[in-house]
Order: sequence, then structure tokens, then C-alpha cells
Amino acid sequence: MKKFFSVTLAIVMLLSTLTMFGCGKATGLDAIKKAGKLTMYTEAGFAPYEFVYNNEIVGVDIEIMKAVADRIGVELEVQDTNFDAIIGGVQTGKVNAGAAGITITAERLESVDFSTPYTQTEQYVILPAGNTTIKFAEDLAGKNVGVQNGTTSDLLVEEMISNGKMAGATLTPYNTPAMAAAAIGKIDAVVTDKLTAEIIINNNEGLQAFPLVNSDGTPVAEIEKYGICIAKGNEDLLAIINEVLDELIAAGKIAQWEQEYSAKATEVGA
Ligand code: ARG
Repeated sequence: MKKFFSVTLAIVMLLSTLTMFGCGKATGLDAIKKAGKLTMYTEAGFAPYEFVYNNEIVGVDIEIMKAVADRIGVELEVQDTNFDAIIGGVQTGKVNAGAAGITITAERLESVDFSTPYTQTEQYVILPAGNTTIKFAEDLAGKNVGVQNGTTSDLLVEEMISNGKMAGATLTPYNTPAMAAAAIGKIDAVVTDKLTAEIIINNNEGLQAFPLVNSDGTPVAEIEKYGICIAKGNEDLLAIINEVLDELIAAGKIAQWEQEYSAKATEVGA
């Protein structure tokens, strides 16, 4: 009998070691509790969702993830990285989650799982204030368009160049939408998500922004929805994130934070 127990114990220990280290990642709820912290990637050049305020990364996504960490009973550790490194880092277990105004797309769902959506956006174009000739997506043909590297704006403009809608346009990727906007003059236009575009034009005189539509009035893309991403197969972590999001949405917190952090970002010119 004793032998039976020790063999069983050995198998249990082996199995738990395999699940923890077997695929080189420890991203599940148990690992988070054990570590005492929830780690996340963001790209902090995307107000009001994440930006630097008083030397600290703040914003809507940070508030959401703080609420998730509180619910689990651990600290939140925010790590800033390039936007195009977030999905891969989450997929391979470098961090537990990605929260960065990330649009849920079919392509990204092949690599990671997403929470339920917590807000939505559409693509905006930023132009010099005096510009009256660029009104529609087609008017960007032959122009130099800036985007944030690896974003849905990047993919969309690339697609419109290759399908001929923006024939002959040049696409220039920048690390942040604000850096792209700062290059206006050298480049012709920037495409980015709505709220971020609105904050950029509030912070910079001489720029205007409006929804990017086709000349027949149809939108250039479907409405985009933001979600928190985690490594695939962590159902218990996903359930907690969704439960917290449902509560925050029902309490009107996301909309409230979008307003508050837009004001803060404008205050510091983020
Ligand atoms: N929503 C867009 C996307 O998913 C842009 C997100 C950029 N976010 C950021 N934190 N820089 O591609």
C-alpha cells in the first residue's frame, strides 16, 4: 500500500511538473497566484488606453488589469514593449496577458485567446489642418501614409495599397501613432484608432482628424473591438478577466476611464 502511494505521488509530481514546464510556459491562474503577480505587456504610446503620466504608465487598460489582479489577489506588473511584440510574447508565455487597445481579429485569434470586447473603435485619418484635398481613402493614393507598426491600421493601409484603392501610396511604420503624427509634413497622413487620433489633434495645433471612409461613404473596415489577450487554453484566467470586464462595463467604468484618461493625456500632451 505504501508503495502504491509513493508511486501515485511520483506520478502526480511528474504530471504537475510537466504541465508547469512541459511547454516552457507558466501562464495559468495557478502560476500567477504562485508568483504573486500578474504580468502584462502593453505599448504605452496609445492614450487614453496606455500612456506615461508622471513617470508612470496609466490608462484604461491599466485600470482594467489592476481590477483583474485585485480579483486574483496579486500585484500587477506592467511591461512596456513594441506593439508588434505583444501577441507573440503572450503566446509564448513571456507574460500572462496583453492589454494594449488590441483589436480582436481572426488572425490574432489563431495565436492567442481574447476576452470579451470592452470597447470599440474605427479607423481615423490625421491630416494637416489646412488640407482640403484628402477626404476619402482613395485620396491617399500616391501619398505617404504613417501608421503604428503591426497595428490594424498598418494592415489595413497595406491591404488598400495592394488592392489598388490607395494605389502607389507609401506606407511608413512608426513606433507610436504620436511619432507618426509628428512626422506629418514629411509624410502626408497618419491612420490610427479614433480616440488616439482625437487626443493627438487636441495636443497638436495644425492637425485635423476624421473617420477614414471610402468615397462612396462606406467604412473602410468593420468596427473594431478591443480585447485583453492571454495564452490559449487558460480557461480559468479567461473566466476571471471576463467576469471583471462584465462588471466594469455594467458599472460604466470603461466609458468613464476613457473620458478621464483622455483629459489626463491632453493635460500632459501624451
Ligand atoms: N487597435 C489597434 C490594433 O489592435 C491599435 C492598437 C495599438 N495599441 C497600442 N497600445 N499601441 O492593432
